[in-house]
Amino acid sequence: MDGLDEANREAGGPDQGDRLTTQSSGPAPDPSVREGFFRNLPVLETPRLILRPLTLDDVDDVYAYASDPEVARYTTWEAHRSLEDSRTFVEAMVRAYRDDRNAPWAMVLRETGRVIGTVDFVAWAPQHARAELGYAMGRSYWGRGLMTEAVCTLVDYGFRRMGLNRIEARCIPENRASARVMEKAGMRHEGLLREVMYSKGRFIDLCLYAILRRDWEAAIAR
Ligand SMILES: CC(C)(COP(=O)(O)OP(=O)(O)OC[C@H]1O[C@@H](n2cnc3c(N)ncnc32)[C@H](O)[C@@H]1OP(=O)(O)O)[C@@H](O)C(=O)NCCC(=O)NCCS
Repeated sequence: MDGLDEANREAGGPDQGDRLTTQSSGPAPDPSVREGFFRNLPVLETPRLILRPLTLDDVDDVYAYASDPEVARYTTWEAHRSLEDSRTFVEAMVRAYRDDRNAPWAMVLRETGRVIGTVDFVAWAPQHARAELGYAMGRSYWGRGLMTEAVCTLVDYGFRRMGLNRIEARCIPENRASARVMEKAGMRHEGLLREVMYSKGRFIDLCLYAILRRDWEAAIAR
């Protein structure tokens, strides 16, 4: 019997014979970090953006970008067809904050004070210290590094304040701009999830990208 088996037996756990090898020595997950997180979504600042919860006053701004079919081209949601669609979306998000469910940050462009898009942890499994990012922004703001700025801020926040060990993002292979944002935020391409989702009437492949806490620590140490 080696030392590890000895330690497991002493810990009094069930049969530890098939225990998986530990890959990382980061902090153990603390699921309590999620409690109240979305109810009290923190306001975050970047050089050009303020990230804050959506409010009902943002409906017009949301409609301005979410009604553009080009913005919705590679997203799993359909372009909003009316202001009512945007109102329904924002109201659902306001309820999600209240009920402490996953909900986005509105991206406010400091220069104009307008909401130009959203960025969010679309999934968060605190028991595994793992979360997934999603984002969308108005077409007239593309190509200025704004989404990279927002995503880098959330990656940083996720590792520093949310106790995450792994942050993922997924995109349709054709969505090269989104893949670039992931790469610029330090994520690595891990593979192609074949026909992983049924969206807009067809099964779609998604590229999986991720950054681990240890990748991020190595990057900030450089
Ligand atoms: C994807 C999206 C968030 C990118 O935001 P953005 O602020 O324009 O991104 P950035 O300016 O930070 O970076 C974009 C990068 O993609 C590159 N890029 C843009 N279009 C590209 C294309 N067609 N092919 C290859 N690279 C492309 C840019 O050159 C830039 O890379 P660089 O800095 O190395 O030159 C934005 O286009 C968007 O909101 N799209 C609609 C919604 C969407 O697709 N969301 C993601 C779903 S997974």
